[in-house]
Amino acid sequence: MSDILSAQALSALYAWYQQNKRDLPWRHTRDPYRIWISEIMLQQTRVEAVKPYYARFLQECPTVTDLAELPEERLLKLWEGLGYYSRARNLQKAARLIVERYQGEMPKTYDELRALPGIGDYTAGAIASIAYGLRVPAVDGNVLRVLARVSGSREDIALQETQNRFRLSLASIVPAWAGDFTQAMIELGATVCVPNGTPLCESCPLCEDCKARCEGLIDELPVKSAKRARRIEDRTVLLIRDGGRTALHKRPPRGLLSGLFELPNVDGFLSEAQVLDFVRKIGFDPLRIQKLEDAKHIFTHIEWHMIAYDVTVTPEFDGLDGLDGIFLVEHDDLHANYAIPSAFSAYTKYL
Ligand code: ADE
Repeated sequence: MSDILSAQALSALYAWYQQNKRDLPWRHTRDPYRIWISEIMLQQTRVEAVKPYYARFLQECPTVTDLAELPEERLLKLWEGLGYYSRARNLQKAARLIVERYQGEMPKTYDELRALPGIGDYTAGAIASIAYGLRVPAVDGNVLRVLARVSGSREDIALQETQNRFRLSLASIVPAWAGDFTQAMIELGATVCVPNGTPLCESCPLCEDCKARCEGLIDELPVKSAKRARRIEDRTVLLIRDGGRTALHKRPPRGLLSGLFELPNVDGFLSEAQVLDFVRKIGFDPLRIQKLEDAKHIFTHIEWHMIAYDVTVTPEFDGLDGLDGIFLVEHDDLHANYAIPSAFSAYTKYL
C-alpha cells in the first residue's frame, strides 16, 4: 500500500508550516513539561483561551515538582474556567508519579509517557515528537480530519479502530523533523482544513495530493458518526448572600464537576415559594428574593438548563457545616481561593 503522505507532500507541508505557523507560547520551548501542560490544556479548548492559563500555570508551577506539591485547591483555582477538571487532577497524579519514579525528570520514551495518567496515544506522541524529536505520530481530531480528506477515506473517524489505523499509517512516514511535523499537521487542521465551514483548499500544501479535493468529496469527508444526544437536566441555582458573604457548596468527590465548589443548586425548576422553603430548611432566614436570568451550560454528556434566584438572608447564620454542606464565604476569600466552574458564570458575575 502507498504511503498516506508522499515525499512531495511532506516537503510541501514543511515549507508551508515554516511560512504560516502561528507564533504560540508553547512553540518557543522544547521543555517536555511545558509541552505536556500545553497539550493537556489544548484538548477540548481553543488556543486563544489556553494562552493566559498556560502563562499563569507555568509561572506558579514551573517544574514537575512544583506541580506535584501544589495544594489541590490551588490547582483547581489555576484551572478555574478551563473545564474538564479531571485533566488537572490527572496532571498532578502524573507529576507525583514522575517525582517518585523518575526523580522529577520527565520520562524520555513514548511508552513511559503513555503509561502516565491522562496521557493517551495522542499526548504521548505529541510530547515525544515535539520535545524529544522522536519519530512517533500524534493523531488528534485535526490530524484525523486532514488524513481522512487527503486519503479520501470513508471510515468513521469517531471510531477507535479508524484512529488506530491512521496512527499506524502515519507512524511509518513521520519524518526526521518530527516535532514540526506534529505541529504542522495540527496547524493545517486548525487553520486550513477546518472542521466547520469550507476548508481553504487554495492555501493547502497538500492540495495536489488530496483525494477529497480531487474527487469533489470535501463536503462529505471526514465521515464522523454523531455522538449520543446529551441528557438535559433542569436546575435551580441559588445566590444566597448575607451582604458580605456568599453561600457555597462542595460537590461530591465523584461524578460531574467532582470536588469543585458551586453555588447551591437543586434539581428541577423551583418557584419562589419553594426556594424560600428550601433556604429555610438549610438554616437561613431569607429577607428578600429576586429572580435572575435563565442560563444554559453544555457539558460533554449533559446539558444544564438553569433558572436562578438571588436570595438575601440575615447575617445570623454562622457558616458552620451541617446544613447540607453549605457554608458562607467572604467576598475576597471566595475570589482568591475557591474554584467555581464556568457552568455558573452567568451567576458568579454578580459576585
Ligand atoms: N492543538 C493541540 N496541540 C496544539 C499545538 N501544539 N499547537 C496548536 N494547537 C494545538
